[in-house]
Amino acid sequence: MQNTLASHPYVKEIIDLECSSTSRIEFHEKSHPILLKMGSDQEFLKQVIKRNFRDEGFINHKWSGFNIPFFYIYETDDFVLKIHLFPSDKERRNNLAANCVHHHNNYILSTNAFFGSGYECFLFSNNPQVDENLEVKMKIAKRFHQKDWNPHIVKAWQPHVVIAPQSFSATLVLWTPDEKRTTDKLRQHPLLKPIKKQLKWLAYRLGLANKIGVAAENTYQFYPNGTTFKGVAESEYVAPMLAEVGDEVDNYCMQMMFYFLQKADLVERDLLRNLANNSSLPSYYYKWIDKVLNDEEVDEVFHAPNLNIPQKQFFVEDILKAAS
Ligand SMILES: [Fe+2]
Repeated sequence: MQNTLASHPYVKEIIDLECSSTSRIEFHEKSHPILLKMGSDQEFLKQVIKRNFRDEGFINHKWSGFNIPFFYIYETDDFVLKIHLFPSDKERRNNLAANCVHHHNNYILSTNAFFGSGYECFLFSNNPQVDENLEVKMKIAKRFHQKDWNPHIVKAWQPHVVIAPQSFSATLVLWTPDEKRTTDKLRQHPLLKPIKKQLKWLAYRLGLANKIGVAAENTYQFYPNGTTFKGVAESEYVAPMLAEVGDEVDNYCMQMMFYFLQKADLVERDLLRNLANNSSLPSYYYKWIDKVLNDEEVDEVFHAPNLNIPQKQFFVEDILKAAS
């Protein structure tokens, strides 16, 4: 199922580009015109939606508070292409951090902000080392809004933080490890269902990375703490989000997806009618399928307001103060 878009010209272009690139950074840089074409082609985006809603692995995905709601586009041993959904702050603040400062280990990320306002992002200098009090000084390497730098790259190990977008946004993302490793095939075994891949990715993010070829190191996320940043072990930080599973989260993610389909004009009625007839469809789908088929507006969903840090939230001003 996961290869349904293999013959699509854009996907072929990406696959060919990966083969011909001499480095992963070159691959990312050269992929950007293709990512832009993908994000502005409604027919392609509709095929992406179809590919997901016909995939039992995707349909039955158990969402958690840790997930950024997503659609798969295409995956190989060398790269992952996805769509990520980013809700805005309910109070429409333009300075609320959507998450803690974090990095993606040895993964490089290219992002095309193709729908909505896009978000503001801070990149920090690499290799922050916490002291015995878990405090660390971090310097801002770049502050930008996606509307001014699109697509953009977040390099491997680069700490960064995303500010909740002004309006509901979607990005088209390309992930790759920073270089080819012999263990790449282990991570992306073709027989693994998408959900398994997601779990592998999670294991990787939670510090088991040394087993699959990356230096073992405590991974921290960071939040502003006065004039410095404070580290929190990633495993500790994400634990409550991982534990947040069940009907409420599944329903929240589904509402977000159907809101996006309506707003981005990606509704395909036949696809949704067929989906409703799938006997193994989880119950939380029906409400949203019915709404869309009845031309009722799906209510907007918003960013979960609180982070797992003592002050629960932080803002652009806090970042600037801590990095001063
Ligand atoms: Fe990130």
